[in-house]
Amino acid sequence: MELVQVCAISEVKAGIIKSVDVEGVKLMVTKLDGEYIVASRLCTHKTFDLGSSHYDDGYITCMLHTSVFDLSDNGEAMNPPATDPLDMYEVIVKDDFIYIKI
Ligand code: FES
Repeated sequence: MELVQVCAISEVKAGIIKSVDVEGVKLMVTKLDGEYIVASRLCTHKTFDLGSSHYDDGYITCMLHTSVFDLSDNGEAMNPPATDPLDMYEVIVKDDFIYIKI
């Protein structure tokens, strides 16, 4: 596992999904209840990119087939057709930057 920098914390706002690609991994970053969240940006149904999907208070809705994922609950899929949760990453904040282990 390697510690990789995702972005500066100043680039991350609550209520907004920030898309970041790190070492070929498509990620989304946001701030929820004061915590930074880093998750895979690929829907677990058909790997659709969730980067511009509707996001509200921890819930992101896939634009393709409307599965909803709960970023406050380990990326859990709330409704079909997706059944698997999004990959979530442990966040490390250091010197005003967000890092994850890949
Ligand atoms: S690709 Fe996201 S629900 Fe089908």
